[in-house]
Amino acid sequence: MDLSAYSHVYGVPPVDLVGDIAGLAQLSPFSPGAQALDEAAPQSIDGLVMLAPPGAIERRYALALALNALKPGAPLLALAPKDKGGSRLAQDLTGLGCAFEESARRHHRICLTQGPGDPAALAAAIAEGAPRLDETLGLWTQPGVFSWNRIDPGSALLIANMPPLAGRGADLGCGLGVLSHAALASPKVKSLLMIDLDRRALECAKRNVADARAAFMWGDGRKVPKTLETNALDFVVMNPPFHESGHENRTLGQSFIQSAAAMLRTGGVLWLTANRHLPYESILKPLFKRATLIKEAGGFKIYQAQK
Ligand SMILES: C[S@@+](CC[C@H](N)C(=O)[O-])C[C@H]1O[C@@H](n2cnc3c(N)ncnc32)[C@H](O)[C@@H]1O
Repeated sequence: MDLSAYSHVYGVPPVDLVGDIAGLAQLSPFSPGAQALDEAAPQSIDGLVMLAPPGAIERRYALALALNALKPGAPLLALAPKDKGGSRLAQDLTGLGCAFEESARRHHRICLTQGPGDPAALAAAIAEGAPRLDETLGLWTQPGVFSWNRIDPGSALLIANMPPLAGRGADLGCGLGVLSHAALASPKVKSLLMIDLDRRALECAKRNVADARAAFMWGDGRKVPKTLETNALDFVVMNPPFHESGHENRTLGQSFIQSAAAMLRTGGVLWLTANRHLPYESILKPLFKRATLIKEAGGFKIYQAQK
């Protein structure tokens, strides 16, 4: 596909559908360092290719932000797998007041529009998808972020079984910050590095964990950050992700465990919660002196592993 009319991309659309996006500026919240679509100036973007997000509210939010950010008449090419929001794209764009052309290829729906969209509909979609304080949860959150409108039961189980922690720690894949918040309840915790790949989650976490001991990193939990010497930490807490681009990926959690093992000092402790079906024992055993199943309940298991 000829991408010469496009300057920006959101997400990583399949190369066989849109071509090579390497020359386009990335706007995805999952791309550390990328510009945020919600901070793009109105009518500033020449053309945008978007792998539209799967969640209905976050998809309409992203489409509406994109339509606001595009120059008048600039193209928005939005696509998604049919079963991950693609079959709703046409309805979404109609609801936002856009004319568009729709096509289908390789299990994706592909919509091309030049906006401009109905200002009231765009404003409503942006308001619906924006970060907000959820009074019931007592947390800042945003549709599209992991477990955005409920506390994950695996995380709740870990919090209920975790003793007071101490020293320097990290929360890999911190999300909204619920595990960090629990860890920081212990006055013996000196510092906590919170890492997440999702900028939106991290921005909420900054508001949820207003604690001078916390530091925040928009980054990949599979890598040990350069700012952190290896074998430095006393503890790591995590509820590792096991989905990538909408598909189950068990190696993600395994890589998180490898990162934790590299970050921990000898004797340091990993506290881990996981869905029961995930095969983490085989990776814990060779990396840690001992790995103990502390609790199994409600389809989740809690491990304490000591390096
Ligand atoms: C299962 S959720 C746990 C969130 C939070 N710790 C909690 O307990 O509610 C996993 C988190 O990992 C993040 N994540 C996914 N892939 C990641 C990666 N490669 N590096 C860092 N974080 C990642 C997701 O954005 C999500 O917030």
